[in-house]
Amino acid sequence: RLALRCARAEAAELRLDAHPSLSVSRAALLPPGGEPPGEALPVSCSPFASYGSALHLQLPRPARLGQRVDILIEYEAGGGPGVCWLTPEQTAGKQKPFMYTQGQAVLNRSFFPCFDTPSVKCTYSATVEVPEGFTAVMSATSWEKQNDTTFVFKMSQPIPSYLIALAVGDIVSAEVGPRSRVWAEPCLIEAAKKEYDGVIEEFLVVGEKLFGPYVWGRYDILFMPPSFPFGGMENPCLTFVTPCLLAGDRSLVDVIIHEISHSWFGNLVTNATWGEFWLNEGFTMYAQRRISTEIYGLAYTCLEAATGRALLRQHMDNTGEDHPLNKLRVVIEPGVNPDDTYNETPYEKGYCFVSYLAHLVGDQSKFDAFLQAYVNRFKFQSITADDTLAFFLEHFPELKEKGVDSIPGFEFDRWLNTPGWPPYLPDLSPGEQLMKPADELAALWAADSLNMEAIEAVDITAWRVYQLIYFLDQILEKSPLPEDNMERLSKMYPKISKAQNAELRLRWCQIILKNNLEAEYSKVKEFLHSQGKQKYTLPLYRAMWGGSESARALALETFSATAPQLHVNVQNYIKQILGLQVEE
Ligand code: BES
Ligand code: ZN
Repeated sequence: RLALRCARAEAAELRLDAHPSLSVSRAALLPPGGEPPGEALPVSCSPFASYGSALHLQLPRPARLGQRVDILIEYEAGGGPGVCWLTPEQTAGKQKPFMYTQGQAVLNRSFFPCFDTPSVKCTYSATVEVPEGFTAVMSATSWEKQNDTTFVFKMSQPIPSYLIALAVGDIVSAEVGPRSRVWAEPCLIEAAKKEYDGVIEEFLVVGEKLFGPYVWGRYDILFMPPSFPFGGMENPCLTFVTPCLLAGDRSLVDVIIHEISHSWFGNLVTNATWGEFWLNEGFTMYAQRRISTEIYGLAYTCLEAATGRALLRQHMDNTGEDHPLNKLRVVIEPGVNPDDTYNETPYEKGYCFVSYLAHLVGDQSKFDAFLQAYVNRFKFQSITADDTLAFFLEHFPELKEKGVDSIPGFEFDRWLNTPGWPPYLPDLSPGEQLMKPADELAALWAADSLNMEAIEAVDITAWRVYQLIYFLDQILEKSPLPEDNMERLSKMYPKISKAQNAELRLRWCQIILKNNLEAEYSKVKEFLHSQGKQKYTLPLYRAMWGGSESARALALETFSATAPQLHVNVQNYIKQILGLQVEE
């Protein structure tokens, strides 16, 4: 049921985003606030793009500007890409099925008919009925269990369509803070609680101190089945995360800080179009690293940021710096699926641009105050980069006066519209003390004849996980290593080569492939069987497909075995890599 207000005078047709997998049985006009059945409306569907279709409803008479129009649509959904159905075997507990929705960027049109654009925000409510023995959760500010199988949800703040999310499964919860609990399958709940007990509140408190009030009430976390395609998804009140985060040592907590940061950047202040996704992700990366700096210090945060920079380097090397997707403001032509434009640029080049703005200001506390004013100015709205930058110059009139938007080489326009490596990089040297030993060790391992004495003198047992990640990125960059070095490296550091931590496993697998270490292929296979995160899966398939005959064979074999468990988008991206036919 949609409660609308007419924004265009004399509108006689309502056009909504939908999907061929949605089957609409009836549409009706209701009296404002009134009850069904209402006045039946003619409905038709027309093709729109590969990722959705248009639903046309004819109103009996044109609506006046500002007029309230209540529409009822009866439909069935479930076969589309936004609604994922998992068999018991695809869950951690392997006992009961699981379902979830993933809206971002344009998938929720296969969940319900809507204005599926981030430029429109609304509140929502839902009544969800589930089979006995299941629990439903949603991205909502309040929920109530009406009886054993009926759950009622309400989101009282306006949000864009992509943030409406539902999950149903055999899930239980445990408290981890005054406004936070973790949700997970029973077999994972202990580990989930242990991973985050007592730490979430600190992130929220620091976020509020930096960016202003947390408006969403609760902040809960749902651990998804292993095929969940993202590290985290910032569904308001209830972040969805991959179970890979359960590393046992809180080492991957930056993902949680990232999703919490979206509570201000993305969920409160939202990019009006997917072409300016960096407004969501670049500001969120900046906010994440501000929170991280407050809690873990500058050195550690710079180390983490350096691994982010390495990802941007890898991405630009793969695509070529001049690739049109390597701009902050991406031109998404009609019919192009915004998800197909996803890459590291909005994250890490976006982070650099926000860091550059902070650098122009020159005073961290003044820039923090700006971010808080920015959130306050645009909360519950959807905006473009022009709004952001105009507000920045308005907030700092002395900078506007100086013409900081047109400094040669650093023009705001260039930041937004020119592809390529960021013209400004924030100084990460405060992380030097943590990076230097890793740099030096990587250099030792890349030498033609190994200096084992020097290598053995380095004790990595006390290194942080992010130091190991950084070290592996260096090794990857220097790969292939001279003959035999890899084998010795693998033996020397079981802490790395036998790691359970997903970020370490990803890099180890990449190194295996770049060095064509056939003896360790089973590790690649095991990792790809164990989880389905897009950012882990695609780079490995790219590496396999760009590798030897045996690596290609490994790709085909692994894909045919794991395809059914992967998210349909991820399946399609792999098919593209492997040159297989993609079904719409
Ligand atoms: N909002 C994104 C996930 C997303 C992006 C889903 C685009 C669908 C389309 C989320 O906040 C995110 O960026 N997750 C990252 C975590 C990170 C950068 C710490 C991820 O999943 O890896
Ligand atoms: Zn994000």
